[in-house]
Amino acid sequence: MSKVTVTTLQAHKAAGEKFAVLAAYDATFAGLIEAAGVEVILVGDSLGMVLQGHDSTLPVTIDDMVYHTGSISRGCHSPLIISDLPFGAYSTLEQTLTNSAALMRAGANMVKLEGGGWLLESVTALTERGIPVCAHLGLTPQSVNAFGGFKVQGRDTDQAAAILADAKRVEAAGASLLVLECIPSALAAEITAALTIPVIGIGAGAVTDAQVLVLYDMLGLSDHKPKFVRNFLAKNDSVQSALKAYNDAVKDGSFPSAEHTFS
Ligand code: KIV
Repeated sequence: MSKVTVTTLQAHKAAGEKFAVLAAYDATFAGLIEAAGVEVILVGDSLGMVLQGHDSTLPVTIDDMVYHTGSISRGCHSPLIISDLPFGAYSTLEQTLTNSAALMRAGANMVKLEGGGWLLESVTALTERGIPVCAHLGLTPQSVNAFGGFKVQGRDTDQAAAILADAKRVEAAGASLLVLECIPSALAAEITAALTIPVIGIGAGAVTDAQVLVLYDMLGLSDHKPKFVRNFLAKNDSVQSALKAYNDAVKDGSFPSAEHTFS
């Protein structure tokens, strides 16, 4: 497979072909994920929970993200690599540019930041400086304290309208991709249809252009099992076949199914 770029993903959306994304953190898994045909690896700040054992992503530092971005980039060639800017690493424009540059130097092809309106200036500034941006709306885990827990977002009309408006604004500001986390599938469908950039869902139903899961969740290794997760290792006899099954199920639309979806 040749290197996946933003253009590749835009072409998938235009053709109505779904693509797969996994959140992972090390070189060995990066190689296995690449071999399974997954197009995008997200170096997610979820590593704070699944690798470091914290109860949220808030303790993760930019140094942690640089370290794991380097590990992923040394382990694979073709997947597009997105790296999370962790909590507190993009509070000011200067911080955002400095920390994003550090992630890009470590091997990221794109940075991801959580939030809507307050980030528009940052999204534009990054894009203008050659740093592609993935926005993240809905349940944004870095705001867990503001949300009062890991709760589905966008269930009432006002919240849904605000998420849709933010999605349009981050696209207009220059974002190349959007992650929608834990929102009702009807809202995700409306946003996916309204945007020209590819939309990646997690707990957002089957209608988005792509799906992402945390690697340790989809291998059934985490001690909690959110509603939107399927354990792909349960019916496969190796990690390699589980990764392949995930890639296939995302592409043929059989994952997620109704049991993984919020209505
Ligand atoms: O940190 C992460 O892994 C993420 C995904 C769950 C979308 O942001």
